[in-house]
Amino acid sequence: MPRAFLPVILLSLSMSTTAFSQAPSSIRIETHNNLLLLGVDTGHQLKQLYYGRQMADAVSSATTGEAAYPVYGTGHESREVALRLTHSDGNLTSRLVYVDHSVSRPDANTVLTTIHLKDSYYPVQVSLYYKAYTNEDVIEQWTEVRHQEKGPVTLFDFASAGLSFSSQSYYLNYFYGDWANEFNLIETPLTPGVKVIDSKLGVRVNQRSNPSFLLSLNGQLQEDGGEVIGGSLAWPGNWQLKFDVDDQKKLNVLCGINPYGSQYALPAGTVFRTPSLLYTYSPEGAGTVTRRFHRWARKYGILDGYGSRDVLLNNWEATYFDFDETKLTTIIQEAGKMGFELFLLDDGWFGNKYPRNNDDAGLGDWQVNKKKLPHGIPYLVKTCQENHLKFGIWIEPEMVNPRSELYEKHPDWVITAPNRDLSLQRNQLILDLSNPEVVEYVYSSIDKLLSENKGISYIKWDCNRYVTNPGSHYLGKDRQTHLFIDYPKALLQIMERVRKKFPETTMMVCSGGGGRIDYASLPYFQEYWPSDNTDAADRIRIQWGLGYFFPSIGLASHVSNIPNGFTGRTESLKFRFDVSLAAKLGMDLQPNQMNEADKQFSRNAIQTYKDIRDVVMHGDLYRLISPYSGNPSTYAGDRAALSYVSEDGARAIVFAYQMKKSITGNSIQLRLKGLDPKAGYTFKELNKGSYSRVKAYEGRRFSGEYLMTQGVVFDMYNDYESAVFQLTRQ
Ligand code: DGJ
Repeated sequence: MPRAFLPVILLSLSMSTTAFSQAPSSIRIETHNNLLLLGVDTGHQLKQLYYGRQMADAVSSATTGEAAYPVYGTGHESREVALRLTHSDGNLTSRLVYVDHSVSRPDANTVLTTIHLKDSYYPVQVSLYYKAYTNEDVIEQWTEVRHQEKGPVTLFDFASAGLSFSSQSYYLNYFYGDWANEFNLIETPLTPGVKVIDSKLGVRVNQRSNPSFLLSLNGQLQEDGGEVIGGSLAWPGNWQLKFDVDDQKKLNVLCGINPYGSQYALPAGTVFRTPSLLYTYSPEGAGTVTRRFHRWARKYGILDGYGSRDVLLNNWEATYFDFDETKLTTIIQEAGKMGFELFLLDDGWFGNKYPRNNDDAGLGDWQVNKKKLPHGIPYLVKTCQENHLKFGIWIEPEMVNPRSELYEKHPDWVITAPNRDLSLQRNQLILDLSNPEVVEYVYSSIDKLLSENKGISYIKWDCNRYVTNPGSHYLGKDRQTHLFIDYPKALLQIMERVRKKFPETTMMVCSGGGGRIDYASLPYFQEYWPSDNTDAADRIRIQWGLGYFFPSIGLASHVSNIPNGFTGRTESLKFRFDVSLAAKLGMDLQPNQMNEADKQFSRNAIQTYKDIRDVVMHGDLYRLISPYSGNPSTYAGDRAALSYVSEDGARAIVFAYQMKKSITGNSIQLRLKGLDPKAGYTFKELNKGSYSRVKAYEGRRFSGEYLMTQGVVFDMYNDYESAVFQLTRQ
């Protein structure tokens, strides 16, 4: 599990280590199917000799190859570098040479290689860490910098990792969008020059993009073929992915914390640890990258990745801020009858002097609003228990409204530049987590809420704005540029403390939608909220994009009201359920506003989900038909389909969606993947609506080979119709 900024000492305690101090001819960082080969040249420079599929007999001479961790001052001045620092005497250059390396085995599945480099003149040391996850074929890489110079060394660039490639062409696939429109997949060829994908938002950093990429070599990205590197940076702060192609078509990829506005004065003896970059190489297309990331994530990247998740009802879109005890009691009673397992009380439950009746007051004052909830949280917990539900609650602990008691007391606790007007978003300000006193307040608000209200078993941790007008009262004039690094570092420490004290509490990470989905945060959370947009048709695309790197076990997807509040679209209840059944099912509406037929349909759908969630949450994801037609940058496909196949191949759940009206019928071949070709599978439609498009297949048995070559062929005609079926190995 990656943990940014943990002291290294923790890592080295439990391992037996083999150390090498002679310059080696090569250093192999390897998994079952990947090999990253490094070497040291005659000038003691560390080089990347090879990265790709596993090879027993790889080159062992370090005369060729690119710098494994390029630094400014070693002939790389014309290219982008991983590390650029100014020494305390003002020297701008660095020259790192190999010192030694060691290899240890933290457990049976992982191998940690540590390479120590040092400056040839100055007392500056750089350590490169490579953790290879053997079975999942994922490499985790991070870097540490320290020094013993007389004054501070200032870091200007500090990538986690650098990788180089030599290929005829490169296609970069990444994710872009905005609030309610997250995770659009974009493909672009890389031409000579530098392409940068980044976030400078400070907090809620993934509102527009995610620090994950797919790099396709020698052609456009394919699902089931072609060489692809998938990478994801584990960091909830400003990030940067840089792709630098030279005139010889050599590509350097540098990923890490965004150095923009973040130069860091490092005192002697202090360790600067970068976040981790996670990456894998696949010669079999993007599908394999995804399945490796998901398997890795279930084991190491998301909390309790092989556990289960509750079906929850959230009152946000059902009531917004307009609720009281009576209204919530009705919702809870209905939810209990429909088969839900958890009720989640969203925003609006707190604040007395400044009641949270809309988004312009109350944030920061985490006391129950006595008018709305006169009997407090214990009453709601009890009502939930009487209705066989667990109870969850929303918080946004890093934020404050100017209209709050907290702001009245501590106006100097917010992020803002001096001599400037306050810059509000959603009427709120961000608490300055570079200040330890503020960190303590944020931690203790969560601690108090959970300690004083036994029975809260779930927390939705929200974060609804990004940084503008950056500045910290605490940091003083010399360290203002530390804000974008100290904030996420402190945030992770709060998450870690909460996790340690409340190991049983389920937590969802939310940031006005998918603004904080990353592998530094997810080890503390079981679930994540991908988007505030709950329109099922839009969710197909959003969930599709997210699914490239993040597993379905945490991907919360809620059936909501029609016409949808964001798009105005009216989609059938079956279609809305069929989209959410492919993820972590929940609901965001008031059941008592449904008619009896819809209630019954929902009860059945929830039961169906309970029967299949094991496969959806823990199965391998196969993307079958893309919602992006032809040009991957155009979200205009007519049909979309995906499936989950249990790791043992015994069960598959298939989801097919028609996105656009087809007057003559869309009967595109739906070829399945990941089945056992020799086994027989029985077909069963799930979550049936008033008619069936697949009845010709119902109850019949087909070989895995047939299903993967001939596929399942059926017409779909209407906007937003869907079919879900299960294949069970006999
Ligand atoms: C943004 C979240 O994404 C929503 O689900 C909801 O919790 C609101 N915040 C509440 O303010």
